[in-house]
Amino acid sequence: MRSYLSILLLAFALPAHADTVAEVSSPDGTLKVEVDVNGEGRLGYSVSRKGEPLIGYSRLGMNLRNGREFLRGLKLDTKATRSFDETWEQPWGERRFVRNHYNELRTGFVEGDRDHRRLDIVFRVFDDGVGFRYEFPKQPRLDEVQIQQELTEFAIAQPATAWWIPAYEWNREEYLYTKTPLSEVGTAQTPITLRTEKGTHIAIHEAALVDYAGMNLAKGEGGRLRASLTPGSVANVVRRAPFATPWRTIQVADRAGGLVESSLILNLNEPNKLGDVSWFKPSKYVGVWWSLHLDQQTWGTGPKHGATTENTKRYIDFAAKHGFRGVLVEGWNVGWDGDWFANGWNFDFRKPTPDYDLEGLAAYAKSKGVHLIGHHETACAVSHYERQMDEAFALFEKLGIDAVKTGYVCDAGQIERQDETNGPVVREWHEGQFMSNHHTRVLEAAAKRHIAIDAHEPIKDTGLRRTYPNWVSREGARGQEFNAWGNPPNPPEHEPNLIFTRMLAGPMDFTPGVVSLKGRGGQVIQNTLARQLADYVVLYSPIHMAADLPEHYEQHMDAFQFIKDVPTDWQDTRVVNGEVGDYATIVRKDRNSEDWYLGSVTDEEARTLQVPLSFLDAGRAYTAQIYRDGDGADWKTSPFAFVREERAVKRGDTLTLKLGSGGGAAIRFVAK
Ligand code: NOJ
Ligand code: CA
Repeated sequence: MRSYLSILLLAFALPAHADTVAEVSSPDGTLKVEVDVNGEGRLGYSVSRKGEPLIGYSRLGMNLRNGREFLRGLKLDTKATRSFDETWEQPWGERRFVRNHYNELRTGFVEGDRDHRRLDIVFRVFDDGVGFRYEFPKQPRLDEVQIQQELTEFAIAQPATAWWIPAYEWNREEYLYTKTPLSEVGTAQTPITLRTEKGTHIAIHEAALVDYAGMNLAKGEGGRLRASLTPGSVANVVRRAPFATPWRTIQVADRAGGLVESSLILNLNEPNKLGDVSWFKPSKYVGVWWSLHLDQQTWGTGPKHGATTENTKRYIDFAAKHGFRGVLVEGWNVGWDGDWFANGWNFDFRKPTPDYDLEGLAAYAKSKGVHLIGHHETACAVSHYERQMDEAFALFEKLGIDAVKTGYVCDAGQIERQDETNGPVVREWHEGQFMSNHHTRVLEAAAKRHIAIDAHEPIKDTGLRRTYPNWVSREGARGQEFNAWGNPPNPPEHEPNLIFTRMLAGPMDFTPGVVSLKGRGGQVIQNTLARQLADYVVLYSPIHMAADLPEHYEQHMDAFQFIKDVPTDWQDTRVVNGEVGDYATIVRKDRNSEDWYLGSVTDEEARTLQVPLSFLDAGRAYTAQIYRDGDGADWKTSPFAFVREERAVKRGDTLTLKLGSGGGAAIRFVAK
């Protein structure tokens, strides 16, 4: 009996013999995708790299809520391949020109039974990875599609180490990355980054998450990761055919830095829908923010209210004096008094508090060449916000406020949706289909007013900035705020983790630049001073905050100079060296000058790195303005050991960077 049972189990575990029905290789031939249909008509795919298995046989399919599964009885009906090679220009970004070069395979499957339902699967194979998606064509017997679960798998073919954060936990995306063997991954968010035993780096994520549920990955048997769609209040996804799912992406590189240099996610998004977005100005900002997280001031009104006319003027003056374009002010509007966390329905996004002269301040800012940055914290009363947002954006537009930070503070799964005024309130996830559509509605409403959006507690980034270039940045990870009050604060390995995981998705509003290196109540930040500067280069965002208090910058004017100088819009980006979770050195060329910038960060380990300056332009002389850890710099014992020095350098020279524990280096190469 026992052996009969185990034979039976084995028979279910192994895929029945599968035939390869279609295949496609990357332009340079290193990556190859094979599509299989087995004897039961089940679909699968596999990926090989340089002739070796990368993704083993992995299942494809869908479970529907309002119909039979798409799983077996399928046969290949059509197939077509094409090649594509185009270079496009980003209006702003980490690089100006992006090459989009792939071979595409489009496979059409049909059920052999009486319904003849159809499902297409499209693969795009780049030299640095693969994207594939399901497409539901228009068809007579399938109109509304309610997706319960996507049965997509990624069977990692070799043992691997994984860097990941858990999905479905209360604090959304704000977790420390854990490093485990792939076999110990639980249910992870994407991007998840892997390094195989042989040293190949893989990142699995998605591109163009539009009108769909975000995908998490649950660990199955062996090296198998299985799609787990974020639940929705009706089904996980409800769509009408024809439609396409987001792209499921597999990025591959030998070097960890190759993942960072890849533009695969952007390339799989649709081109710019907004037209000319030159009204968005990549820039830096200061504001009434860190004081709130330090608990020196409050969002709510009262004796400690941060958003007062007088306090804001102080920040505007500071911004004007030091050349910052933006001043963010949180707590400016009605609704923060009391427990705003618990009740976002009290927020009014059109009314300032009595002690905040919104119009007067906007005019004052304008007279000084500064722009207020708006703030819309919803506390997750999302439908309430949607009812006001058009008016709220119109108000900001009238006042010359052209960037808005939005926020969705509440536990995961607690987004409040109310489809009709006074109707029932149902709860949704931050990463579900409802929020995917909400963010699109916000982007479109904001774009009409020429307003850029920086979302905190957002849905994950999947490269939509290509299509909506007013979605300029977001949070979606543990930012600097955890250094104010986090228990624990961010450890030194946090940025070396972020660079190779979260940052693969897109820009992050991390809010660097806390030069005092202290959080609330004197909590120690686990960085050196030079490290806070390096973050501006290694963490890409077209808007970056100088997060610390003006009085703290006055005490560190030498370090502050780098924060004033560093651009936020780039011609080019390269990763000089790095290992996931250990260290990274990134260089970027300014989009508006001939200068290059370098940022280097390390975990708790002090390191000496040799950096060949082969990226510098040939035949040009540079002055390297170096901001580095001084002798003995160490976040625990000597965080303020700091040196600013200058050297003449040129292409072909090599710099030796000494980074202390939790340390970093920041360099501006000024072209002569
Ligand atoms: C969380 C955001 O990440 C933070 O930056 C903001 O200050 C608070 N929410 C209040 O909106
Ligand atoms: Ca946050």
